[in-house]
Amino acid sequence: MNGMEADIERVLLNRERIAQRVDAMAGEIAAVYGPSRDGIVIVPVLTGALMFAADLIRRLPMRTQIHMMAASSYEGTTGTEPRLLYGPGDLVGGRHVLIVDDILDSGRTLQRVIADLRQHGAASVRSCVLLRKPGKAVTGVSADFVGFDIEDVFVVGYGLDFNNWYRNWPDIAVLRPELYA
Ligand code: IMP
Ligand code: MG
Repeated sequence: MNGMEADIERVLLNRERIAQRVDAMAGEIAAVYGPSRDGIVIVPVLTGALMFAADLIRRLPMRTQIHMMAASSYEGTTGTEPRLLYGPGDLVGGRHVLIVDDILDSGRTLQRVIADLRQHGAASVRSCVLLRKPGKAVTGVSADFVGFDIEDVFVVGYGLDFNNWYRNWPDIAVLRPELYA
């Protein structure tokens, strides 16, 4: 026991299913963009998208550049609001951009990131999320590419965290509820 297994209630998506789906998503993305000399700019949203982006990018057959973006949530006047810590800024001007994020929940993070990329003059902005939770996108924001629709449970692993822990667990798993209740 290394101390992580003990905290996990059940595996929701195992590493094989994740790998298969990521493979298929790369195909879906490549089909939409097609081959182009200009390529696309991939914007992974740290830290949750770390594993997903690393796996997805290596399966994309087209020319890509990568610019990391970092967002963090804080408690604002209207609930939890995302703040951008850093990003590509003007480097996305005139470019086709694909955001890569771990999970679409309320949609606030994605909405904030999309607005920033548009402000900096991106030619197009699409988004790709590994997971989507049901009916909670209060913002009306939707993703162009979705890996899995999951039930409304708190998940960790494959980049997803609880207090920045469990990101290195290779499967996507449900934590024992008493840990975060
Ligand atoms: P949104 O801004 O409400 O769409 O939330 C997106 C962010 O919330 C993600 O990038 C995650 O960091 C975090 N998040 C939402 N649900 C979960 C979960 O089940 N496990 C871990 N992080 C989550
Ligand atoms: Mg997180």
